[in-house]
Amino acid sequence: MSNLKTILITGANRGIGLELVRESLAKKFSVIGTFRNRENSQALFELSSNDMKLFEMDVVDEKSILDVSKNIHNPIDYLICNAGINNGYGSIFDQDHTHEKMLEVLNVNVIGSILTVKHFSKILNKDAKIILISSIMGVQNHSGSSATIYRASKAAVNNIMISISEEFKSKKITVASFHPGWVRTDMGGPNATLSTKESASSLIKNFENLTFENTGKFFNYDGTTMNF
Ligand SMILES: NC(=O)c1ccc[n+]([C@@H]2O[C@H](COP(=O)([O-])OP(=O)(O)OC[C@H]3O[C@@H](n4cnc5c(N)ncnc54)[C@H](OP(=O)(O)O)[C@@H]3O)[C@@H](O)[C@H]2O)c1
Repeated sequence: MSNLKTILITGANRGIGLELVRESLAKKFSVIGTFRNRENSQALFELSSNDMKLFEMDVVDEKSILDVSKNIHNPIDYLICNAGINNGYGSIFDQDHTHEKMLEVLNVNVIGSILTVKHFSKILNKDAKIILISSIMGVQNHSGSSATIYRASKAAVNNIMISISEEFKSKKITVASFHPGWVRTDMGGPNATLSTKESASSLIKNFENLTFENTGKFFNYDGTTMNF
């Protein structure tokens, strides 16, 4: 069996996920990247490397997660739940804040993270680290009237992170959430303060620095702890 650390990254085809793949390959990790739509994943496939395996997977389609888990033969050292959506930054009174769209945000960001952890839990290495990508927008005193359901979803991500950390305490598996910073991606927009490289390189370094004493905590991308 290989001595390489294995990292699995969901939503690896663009934005922060894609940059986490690049950084992981540069660190000689063995990378498992998941994408949900091949047509939207050209940049990921162009990275082709012997240290990378790519799988189609939708984090809210349990069958697709189980299919991927059956095709992974190395234990996972880092499980990164990065896939996420924000359907709208506007007010809940805006026309496009429909019931269906709000459910989709909760479904992907919260339940998608739970399903990912649940179905990969059997193939985690003994001192694995589970990372949920959260957001400062979920912090209780980071208030605002915009993106209400996205804020709620990320507050919930931090909350489920704590429950998941309790579930894994007896196995000494570390569970934490991270705010990646405000990053120039499709979601973060062009005015964001950080490039994907600035965010992802710092995130990876801090994933490596995590120890079991940090389980159940929420961190900024630069490694400083954040309040919930
Ligand atoms: N950018 C920021 O400033 C910022 C700040 C705080 C937190 N975050 C968080 O960081 C993470 C990555 O954000 P980003 O800025 O890189 O966003 P992004 O550029 O919009 O990329 C989102 C990624 O998630 C994937 N995804 C969405 N729904 C999925 C599903 N059901 N199953 C599998 N994959 C799915 C997308 O795949 P498709 O290409 O198929 O859509 C894409 O790969 C998210 O959790 C986000 O909430 C971002």
